[in-house]
Amino acid sequence: MASFNGVPVPSNGQRIEYSGGKYRVPDRPIIPFIEGDGTGRDIWKASVRVFDAAVEKAYGGKRSVAWYEVFAGEKSKARFDTWLPDDSVNAVREFRVAIKGPLTTPVGGGIRSLNVALRQILDLYCCIRPVRYYSGVPSPVKHPERMNVVIFRENTEDVYAGIEWEQGTPDAARLIEFLNKDMLKGGKKQIRLDSGVGIKPMSVTGTKRLVRMAIQYAIDNGRKIVTLVHKGNIQKFTEGAFRKWGYELATEEFRDKVVTERESWILDNKDKNPNLTVEQNASLIEPGLEFATDDFRQALYQEVKHCLDSIYVGHGHGAWKKKIMVNDRIADSIFQQVVTRADEYSVLATPNLNGDYISDACAAQVGGLGIAPGANIGDGYAIFEATHGTAPKYADKDVINPGSVMLSGVMMFRFLGWNEAADMIEQSLERTIDQKKVTYDFERLMPGATKVKTSEFASYMIGNMSAELEAAVK
Ligand SMILES: NC(=O)c1ccc[n+]([C@@H]2O[C@H](COP(=O)([O-])OP(=O)(O)OC[C@H]3O[C@@H](n4cnc5c(N)ncnc54)[C@H](O)[C@@H]3O)[C@@H](O)[C@H]2O)c1
Repeated sequence: MASFNGVPVPSNGQRIEYSGGKYRVPDRPIIPFIEGDGTGRDIWKASVRVFDAAVEKAYGGKRSVAWYEVFAGEKSKARFDTWLPDDSVNAVREFRVAIKGPLTTPVGGGIRSLNVALRQILDLYCCIRPVRYYSGVPSPVKHPERMNVVIFRENTEDVYAGIEWEQGTPDAARLIEFLNKDMLKGGKKQIRLDSGVGIKPMSVTGTKRLVRMAIQYAIDNGRKIVTLVHKGNIQKFTEGAFRKWGYELATEEFRDKVVTERESWILDNKDKNPNLTVEQNASLIEPGLEFATDDFRQALYQEVKHCLDSIYVGHGHGAWKKKIMVNDRIADSIFQQVVTRADEYSVLATPNLNGDYISDACAAQVGGLGIAPGANIGDGYAIFEATHGTAPKYADKDVINPGSVMLSGVMMFRFLGWNEAADMIEQSLERTIDQKKVTYDFERLMPGATKVKTSEFASYMIGNMSAELEAAVK
């Protein structure tokens, strides 16, 4: 197609292709962008200058991006009298990789949210949020530099499936009656008649493809720990199942590359004492085993035996220490852990709701919303975006922090395999913050900092890219 929304496709760019699970990125890819509403306009203007400068400096003209504007939100409403034209979705589908600023979510019913529409149409099942510290960024914790995690949040199910019935409606009453009388058989456990009811579906499909993406990411990026975050002690058949299916996926599809935390204990016990019997090994894993039921004991013996029989050959004698560790943590405990022992976590794979909470909690430790990037990714499609909203009171004032969209660009360039451009942006951003030239949100928290405008921040970053290059050449 030669145009979307009546805007011609850049004639000097090419499409990103996708087949067999791999992207083929031309030297001048067409990348759709949505500048976003409110402060999105200032942020996008600043960010695109930085992106182009980084690509130019990294590849000296051999590579460049053919940016292609796609409309959504207020700009689209003004121009086409719709918040989200079909053609905008079509363009993203056509070109596969896109980047967007924040969009107003119009108050009032019946309006399609771009995020939801794209997520559903393109099945963007994984929301990725990398959270790391950049030197100089103001932080509320003592050791923000210990935080360096990438969160993989399931994006399509859980309580976000949007299946709920309002208290007092005939449907809610009907469902409650069915549950109380039929499913719960009028027993002790009953749902109060004045309840609203929501459904929390979590599937094998949704869980496994999410965990697969998280483990593959760990492999591709040299990360050593993947943690499944769940509330399985309470919600056994949803959150608990997430944990179970996550481990299944890890050990079935990535057997030679991973070790689970429990396996590591069994293997370590055997490494330290090769004469250890299965029973002795089991009692080291579960202290107090002698007080457990016979069934529990036998199941544990089976687990130990199965582990040693099936993987000691490849994973024993310390080899497991070089594998990716897959462990799990209960959701409430991970909120403590990311504060007290952040450096023990690297990749977090989470169901939808846990991921929503933990991403913001982690981001808060290293500078908050203004520099928190994100991406929604499916098989063959990826959309990179700032995680903050439109911050409307600062719109068109050229004051807002553009870090979140810029770091979303870093994610995008890494996704495309353009790591040199990504490094250039990341390093120049860090250098600029270190020089204490920052937008208002950081300036008020950094003694001795100089407050700069959004556009000036971009200019300082571009200046610092030359410094990076000179340093690299020396
Ligand atoms: N992805 C999206 O498109 C997205 C996400 C969240 C909210 N929204 C929409 O944005 C609008 C405003 O929402 P909100 O006020 O709840 O959230 P917001 O993220 O716009 O603002 C929250 C707070 O953070 C500050 N802030 C946000 N981004 C900043 C930045 N880059 N630099 C410095 N400070 C920043 C704001 O000034 C405000 O105090 C609403 O219409 C909402 O629906 C869109």
